[in-house]
Amino acid sequence: MPFPPSFIDELVARNPIEEVVGQYVSLKRSGANLFGLCPFHGEKTASFSVNPEKGIYYCFGCHKGGGVINFEMEIEGLSYPDAVRALAKRAGLDVPDDAQYQSRYRQQERLWALCKEAARFYHAQLYEPSGAAGLAYAQKRGMSKGVLTAFGIGFAPDSYDGLRNAMRAKGYTDAEMVAAGLLSESQRKTGAVYDRFRNRLMFPIIDVRGNVIGFGGRVMDSSTPKYLNSPETLIFNKRKNLFALNIAKKSKLGYLILVEGYMDAISLHQYGFDCAVASLGTALTEDGANLLSKYTEKVILIYDGDTAGQNATQRAIPILERAGITVQVLQMRDAKDPDEYLKRFGADRFRLLLADSSNRVEYQLRVIEKKYDLSSDEERVKFLQESAQLIATLSPVRREVYGRRAAEAAGIGFDAFKIEVDRAYKRLTAQERRKREQAEMQPARNLQPKAASMRYDNIRSAMAEETLLGQLLREPALFDRCQGLSGSDFTAPFLGRAYDQLLARHRQGLEVSVSVLEDFSAEEISHLVGVQQRGDGPVSEQAVDDCLRTIRAQREAGKVTAEEDLLAFRNKLKERKGL
Ligand code: UTP
Ligand code: MN
Repeated sequence: MPFPPSFIDELVARNPIEEVVGQYVSLKRSGANLFGLCPFHGEKTASFSVNPEKGIYYCFGCHKGGGVINFEMEIEGLSYPDAVRALAKRAGLDVPDDAQYQSRYRQQERLWALCKEAARFYHAQLYEPSGAAGLAYAQKRGMSKGVLTAFGIGFAPDSYDGLRNAMRAKGYTDAEMVAAGLLSESQRKTGAVYDRFRNRLMFPIIDVRGNVIGFGGRVMDSSTPKYLNSPETLIFNKRKNLFALNIAKKSKLGYLILVEGYMDAISLHQYGFDCAVASLGTALTEDGANLLSKYTEKVILIYDGDTAGQNATQRAIPILERAGITVQVLQMRDAKDPDEYLKRFGADRFRLLLADSSNRVEYQLRVIEKKYDLSSDEERVKFLQESAQLIATLSPVRREVYGRRAAEAAGIGFDAFKIEVDRAYKRLTAQERRKREQAEMQPARNLQPKAASMRYDNIRSAMAEETLLGQLLREPALFDRCQGLSGSDFTAPFLGRAYDQLLARHRQGLEVSVSVLEDFSAEEISHLVGVQQRGDGPVSEQAVDDCLRTIRAQREAGKVTAEEDLLAFRNKLKERKGL
């Protein structure tokens, strides 16, 4: 545990959750809880609740929840220690000098400083004789001096120890350079290290707080890999960061443009679209979308015009929409990507293209339209069937608007097409009803946590573990009945960890609450808050004893497979329903 528990208690006490949340969400009291619009997903009715007494928040819509520290982490995109520091600052508390935490943070700070030095070194190279080829290449790609400076673009010399020597002279060790992903370790000779990036144009990757966290390096010919990126390090996670967001977050344009390539983002900035960001050599992730949603409500997707780009667009749309972002799509034409388009046709024509970008439904309709030859009757029918499936998922007003458009495209009357859409709509709702019914038939499946990483292997034991935690959270005195039980007896590891932490706190006479748990993922904390919320049955010694019996019996019985367990559950239910 990185911080002393008593410090966390004071931190939580000095940062009332309703005050901290209240800085972001306008809350209205209703009974013991306060309600407001959830800041983590788009909604129009308030399903986000704060319980000052328990010190927790919970959204009944997106099921996110936790204590004040988790809220700070989630809303500001901070790591646990950084959220603690932010809250400590808010409450005017000094962060205790805890060795382990301090050393991790100091290591991070050291790597940030090292990466910044490396970026300076690479950038300076552009104007050295050893970097002439890099500068020439950057100029050939049309990068202005201003852009080279603003993005800190640089050049890694064609040498196995150029960077290494320069950083050693600044007092950094080989181990630190390996940890930052700047040196690679030799496969052949143990202990030997060499510069990871050689003879490449270097793009520093900078997080939203301005730290240099990694690099992308481009070759200057057609060799492969075209881009070499930093490996995952203590400070670099490519799924959680976006290229150029540190600059784009300050844009006044009111939307963000998401592109595939570093070069596309850079060109857009150079041509005045200072709101462009790029993913880091991966498809857009949920983390990436959530990060975007902190800075904008609208994203224009401009992926490459090829099939890969179009497929990536289709995949990115629902990810962005789930993060509460309105999506528009600009379909590249006459050029393979925005970089090429801007250089060929200039900013004004690009602006026209941008104005012509369509909302995602228009875009998806157009994609379907392109698949079929509408002059053939048979293909027209297929086009109408597929469009009907898309349109059936929309709201009634949009069903009408886009239904008319699709019918027009196929040259048939809207009334005839409307029958097809209604049919697709009925199929869809029937499908959904079936899914719900199936879910009811298989209650065990509903009891599984949403995140795959948390799935229970032994549902019966896990249910008892959850109930037990719920009881203990409400009445810590019941820990006395749990003699001899430890977290390792739990079948769900994260529930076991929660038990151990809470027990340790109880023994020290500290607060027992979900809001003070440490080192849990956002999903785990949300699930635990759900457990605590759900526990509305009475607290009783009987209930605790029952749970203990189940946990111990299941532990004795060894591993019951999830399937067997499911079957047993379903049979029991069938019996009860008299099926
Ligand atoms: P592109 O090949 O479209 O690159 O890959 P680009 O940025 O447009 O570069 P130019 O214009 O050809 O110079 C898109 C993105 O995919 C990642 C990089 O993030 C790149 O910007 N990528 C691509 C890699 O990580 N490694 C590769 O080998 C290729
Ligand atoms: Mn490209």
